Amino acid sequence: MSIEITIENLHFARGDRRIFDGVSLEIPAGQVTAVMGPSGTGKTTLLRLISGQLTPDSGRILVDGVDVHRQSKSGLMALRKRMGMLFQSGALFTDMTVLENVMFPLQVHTDLSPAMVRSVALLKLEAVGLRGAGELRPDELSGGMARRVALARSVALDPALMLYDEPFVGQDPISMGALLRLIQELNSALHITSVVVSHDLTETFRVADNVFILSQGKLVAGGTSADVSESEDPQVQQFIQGQADGPVPIHYPAVSLDQDLQQVKK
Ligand SMILES: Nc1ncnc2c1ncn2[C@@H]1O[C@H](COP(=O)(O)OP(=O)(O)O)[C@@H](O)[C@H]1O
Ligand SMILES: [Mg+2]
Repeated sequence: MSIEITIENLHFARGDRRIFDGVSLEIPAGQVTAVMGPSGTGKTTLLRLISGQLTPDSGRILVDGVDVHRQSKSGLMALRKRMGMLFQSGALFTDMTVLENVMFPLQVHTDLSPAMVRSVALLKLEAVGLRGAGELRPDELSGGMARRVALARSVALDPALMLYDEPFVGQDPISMGALLRLIQELNSALHITSVVVSHDLTETFRVADNVFILSQGKLVAGGTSADVSESEDPQVQQFIQGQADGPVPIHYPAVSLDQDLQQVKK
């Protein structure tokens, strides 16, 4: 049921900026895999490439053996239906109750009867521990609860693949713990493949079976969480130890400071 992702020699640029400069990696089926890197490395971009919202300049992305970017519109839609996404921006519909939010994708994408839609949505809320909150409105929820409702909504259609974009941002320690447990539990209970992108090291290492680290368009490390945390590669160490300076420059590419200041004088 769960599916694997193969990324082959991925190149993707935004203007002059090479976001991916020949990245290849394998995301195994049925496990939690984290993709990490400093802000601006291209983690969100990678998820958009995997889900077919963006197209690589070259290289291939296979999801369950299917080349995402060689699909007809309907083929891509069918593939996307098997993906659940918890994006940072994935806000709840504020004019619907919690239960209605979770029912929504089921109403739009399935032929289930209203009673079945309700039952399935209740089960998804149960899975995130919020069945009792079904009648609440989003503005009555804490940040952690809202994130969990969004999670219930994104697994409503029983995806084979879950993509999480920075799921830990803005969570207090208790809801963080709940979220970590949920990502793992859903992964094993639903037999899915989970991809978590995050810059948040500690939490991500706790949740992931495998870790990939990206930097400056390249894959700098990959393996089990233990392998990667023991890597002696200076780029990996800089990232893991949160050092501000090291082989990876912290500055966004720019003309020299001198040049900029000269411009100001002129
Ligand atoms: N729509 C866009 N147009 C141009 N550049 C973009 C766009 N979205 C992202 N970028 C650039 O692509 C790079 C990677 O962005 P992103 O994938 O959001 O990084 P991350 O999620 O790792 O923080 C950044 O340099 C960002 O400025
Ligand atoms: Mg991002």
